[in-house]
Formats: sequence, C-alpha cells, structure tokens
Amino acid sequence: MALPHLFRPLTLRGVSLRNRTAVPPMCQYTAVDGMAGDWHLVHLGKFAQGGFGIVFVEATAVEARGRITHGDVGIWSDAHVPPLARIAAFLAANGAVPAIQLAHAGRKASMQRPWQGNGPMTGADQAGGELAWPVVAASAEPLEPGWLVPEALDRAGMASMREAWRTATLRAAEAGFAVAEVHSAHGYLLHSFLSPLANRRNDAHGGDLAGRMRFPLEVVETVRAAWPADRPLFVRISSVDGIEGGWTVEDSVVYARELKARGVDVIDCSSGGLTGSATAARNAPRGLGFQVPYAERVRAEAGLPTMAVGLILDAPQAEQILAEGRADIIAVGREAMNDPNWAVHAARALGLPDEGFPQWPQQYGWWLERRQRVLDRIRSNPSPSG
Ligand SMILES: Cc1cc2nc3c(=O)[nH]c(=O)nc-3n(C[C@H](O)[C@H](O)[C@H](O)COP(=O)(O)O)c2cc1C
Repeated sequence: MALPHLFRPLTLRGVSLRNRTAVPPMCQYTAVDGMAGDWHLVHLGKFAQGGFGIVFVEATAVEARGRITHGDVGIWSDAHVPPLARIAAFLAANGAVPAIQLAHAGRKASMQRPWQGNGPMTGADQAGGELAWPVVAASAEPLEPGWLVPEALDRAGMASMREAWRTATLRAAEAGFAVAEVHSAHGYLLHSFLSPLANRRNDAHGGDLAGRMRFPLEVVETVRAAWPADRPLFVRISSVDGIEGGWTVEDSVVYARELKARGVDVIDCSSGGLTGSATAARNAPRGLGFQVPYAERVRAEAGLPTMAVGLILDAPQAEQILAEGRADIIAVGREAMNDPNWAVHAARALGLPDEGFPQWPQQYGWWLERRQRVLDRIRSNPSPSG
C-alpha cells in the first residue's frame, strides 16, 4: 500500500518532519510576565505524544508591548528562554519538530483575554491590576473606534523593532526550536503595514504594494539572517482581508514570491483579522477547509510549499488536500484541542498498519495493544462464561 500523503515525511532544509500534520500556534493567554509555564508544556506536549509532525508554540511576543494580552508568552529577555527550551526539548524527544511563532501584536496589543471580553482593556481590568500599555502600528489609526490609538513607527522605531525581532530569533534558536514562523497575519504589526486599510503612510514604507511590503520584508530578512541556515522559516499570512479595498490573494502571491526570494521555506495561509476576529476573515464564508484555496493558489503561483489551516477536521479531508497538491502541510488547531491524538487516529483512519500500535508512544501503545487482544477476544465471544 502506498503511504498516505499525510504520513509521507517532509524535509525542509536540515529538518525532517515525520509526517505532514501540524498544530498551529494557539495563544493560551496563560503566561505570567511572558513566561511559558507548565500549562504550555502539557498543552503542547500532548500533541507531540499524539503523533503530530510539527507543533507550534503560540504567538510569542518579541517585545513586551507586542503582547496581545497580559497572558501572552514572550521572548523579549533571556529569562524567557529556559521554559521555552524545556518545551522544545520535550516536543523533540517525543518525535515532533518543535516550532515557535514570533509575533508582535501592533495595534491589537493591550487587549483583554478572549474570555474577559476580547476588547480593549477597561477600567475594570486596570482595577484588577492589569494596566493598558501604549501600542504601535504602521499608522496612528485605531483598530476600531474606542480602541487605543497606536503610535506610528518612525525610522528609529522601525530600527529598534527589527532589533527586537533579531534578538528574539537568536533566543528562539538557543531554546532549541527547529522551525520559526514570522507572524505577519491577523491584523498584528506586520499585517498593519501590508494592508492598505491599515497602512496610511506616505513614506517609503507605505503607498503601493512594494512600499507596504517593505517593513515586513525587512523584518523577515532580519529574522532569516539570525535564524540558523539549516532551520526552516515559515511566514503566516492573512491571505485576504475579506474587506472591500483590502489585501487580496493576488497581493499574497506577490508577497509570497518576495518571501521566497528571502529564504522563506513555507507560507502558512490563514486569512482575515485586520479588524475583529483573529481566526478568519470576517466577511469570508467559513466552510470546511475554507482557507485551502489560498494555500493552493500561493503554492501554485509563488512556487513554494504551503501550510493549509482552518476547519480541517478529519483525516480523509486532510489527505485529499495533499493528494490534490493544494498544500504541503496540514494544520489542525481546535480539532487538536478536541482530540490531541488526532494524528495517530488519522494514521489508523488512512489505513496505516496499526498492529502493535506503532504510531503511539510505547508508554501507551504497549497497553493499548494488549487491551486490543482482550477486546478482540471479548468481541468474538461476547459471553465466554455463559
Ligand atoms: C485559542 C486560539 C488561539 C490562537 N492563537 C493564534 C496565534 O497565537 N497565532 C496565530 O497565528 N493564530 C492563532 N490562532 C488561529 C489558529 O492558529 C488557526 O489558524 C485557527 O484556529 C483556524 O484553524 P482551526 O479551524 O483548525 O482551529 C488561534 C486560534 C485559537 C482557537
């Protein structure tokens, strides 16, 4: 039997993935002062135990003011490295490629956690000891009325921002991550430069597409130069804004070509978030696999591997996307929360031999195999003692 596409290994630079499944970055809003903790280790660790090929640490702030909320993970100081290194080591020891998304929230920084309102911080948050902080963006325009008005980054601000990305990248490498991803999606800092609806600059970093891409590309160049040459670099994009006059999939193809020319290995094709929800374009229809067409288009027209994400729920759906050549890696986010063992279950669903539970960690597989024999006996003879 030919190996299902989902379980064909993939090598990117010096890094090999055991299969094409990924857990995308998912903020847990549970860090203290940017420090990853036991929650993050267990949350991510179980996906490695569950057979995923690559597991991403959530959006990790390159500087403190780049956090979305007070609960975001950060990597703006050396003190942040040891707990992240522990996570990276655990993921690798359990067969997954440890990956980290580097991020700056821009004008979407200084927010409430989703379950605290998902809006700008209020007096009640301040009374509880969580103060708002000043935010930065491409232009001095708030996300929506009532949100903090960001300061537009000037030349010096852009230079120190690139330095923050550089040192964060060095720390991510030191922590042992094998893949880094630059977050340029969902309305955060780099997306605020890309989208004509957020970038109103009239200097070299605004205006036409080339001008709006300039700062994000400078950041990617900085990260690529600091990231070891044998380790792959991903970039997450919002493939479309889904808003009249906004960023389009044609823009994404142009951006992806420029990223490829700068040594980016994979484009992670999300969408939306310029305003409102960060998980998808507000106005785009959200069917199963609704962002796959973006991964397909970027892959075909920019000529580099893509990661598909968004309402990909089961193994046959994932397998079909790969078999049709629409993406190279399949990311499963909320469904992985629902089933951390999604990848090993997918292996069985796609017909990989599972005698002896070879896909499972032996700590589980040894027992499951023995239980299986008992279950088989019970099922073949439902009432052995009459
Ligand atoms: C709780 C949660 C946190 C998220 N945090 C991030 C994040 O840190 N960075 C990011 O790029 N996307 C983030 N996302 C978006 C996911 O990576 C993913 O693109 C989205 O959930 C759609 O995939 P799914 O339908 O498989 O969940 C988050 C989504 C959820 C549900």
